[in-house]
Amino acid sequence: MNWFRNTGLGMFIHWGVYAVHGRGEWCQAQERIPTAEYDQRYMDLFTADEYDPEKWAQIAVRAGMEYMVLTTKHHDGFCLFDTKTTDRNAVKRGPKRDLVAPFVAACKKYGLKCGLYFSLPDWSEPAFFSGPHLTPEAWNDFLDRIVFPQVRELCTQYGQFDVLWYDNIIGMSNGKNSFEPNVNFRETTTGNTNDKLTAEDYRAAELNAMVRSLQPGILINDRSLTPEDFYTAEQNLTPPKDPERLWEACMTLNKHWGWYPADPYYKSPFEIIHAITGVAMSRGHMLLNVGPDRYGRLNSNEIQILETVGNWMKVNKEAVKGVTSGGLDGGSYGCSAKKGKYYYLFLHYASREGFITIPDCSKKFKSATLLGDESRVMTFEYKNDNVIIHNTPMPEYNVIPVIRLEAEEE
Ligand code: GLC
Repeated sequence: MNWFRNTGLGMFIHWGVYAVHGRGEWCQAQERIPTAEYDQRYMDLFTADEYDPEKWAQIAVRAGMEYMVLTTKHHDGFCLFDTKTTDRNAVKRGPKRDLVAPFVAACKKYGLKCGLYFSLPDWSEPAFFSGPHLTPEAWNDFLDRIVFPQVRELCTQYGQFDVLWYDNIIGMSNGKNSFEPNVNFRETTTGNTNDKLTAEDYRAAELNAMVRSLQPGILINDRSLTPEDFYTAEQNLTPPKDPERLWEACMTLNKHWGWYPADPYYKSPFEIIHAITGVAMSRGHMLLNVGPDRYGRLNSNEIQILETVGNWMKVNKEAVKGVTSGGLDGGSYGCSAKKGKYYYLFLHYASREGFITIPDCSKKFKSATLLGDESRVMTFEYKNDNVIIHNTPMPEYNVIPVIRLEAEEE
């Protein structure tokens, strides 16, 4: 758990057959494409010709990331790994090779922790839609034939890895959903409160006991509907209620997880770094997503954003790794984090005047250092209950400048 608590950033990779369609990983559901048609149209065009996970790893390392998580199977049910459970896998179709083994190897080679994402829902299985309440036998068969063996394969075929990242969908196993053209998808996915899946439905305790016996030391997220090791926030930065709980916030760079070249709504590096600092002060960290194309290439927008994030991380990572809230938050600049005797001020809104004020602060400080530029001399003024720091950087100095204060006592 230590590495997870002290890491600053990870890379999420959503990659699969949906990259051919190019409208995100939910395209099959949103456009109601029956599985047979989806397979026929897209599966063999997912060729992964330029797949080189070492390139991903290099980009991740340059971005200051310390782990990567790959979608080994998303909701469409197509397995990027070799499996005996179905022919809908990368060895039999499309790329005609196992895509998970080289991914795990690339993580190892570049010193990155390795996470494998696995979707418990599987749209290619009718039992997933009919659900455990209406069709208990078919549901158990789905677990015994697909879910348990596939998770076992992931845990036994690739050596040791570090994170099992389950995913889930609540509200589709209601006996009514399907992507067949005669079913009104919109009507059937809303408002039904009887279709909630539970940890018991997934036999999550049994599943995770198996995982832990095969992969001692693994971290498991909370999406098999038991709490396990860490909490996941998705597209938001809200920490868990228990401040001791490990957590991670995953976020897209544009508006989609899977490849979607027509989506231009990329977040700026400032927004991303702003989020990184916000999550860090609540003791979490971020898992930033990329969605490679069908050949395995990241797009240039993603690469550029991650380069800028990486340049920032190179200078400032100590301020977001393993920190807690600093409690020195002021309207004239932004927020703060703390590690031991060091306080880090994140200048989200660095003032134009060249000074900032920490309000209501009774602390005394020995020194103020601008990360990345130790030559800048900043001085303190203690006035009423305020601490004023002079000669702070102007906003254009860096995406978000960070000042490290050394307190006289912890
Ligand atoms: C949601 C979506 C899924 C995505 C995941 C990432 O659960 O269903 O497409 O993979 O979020 O957190």
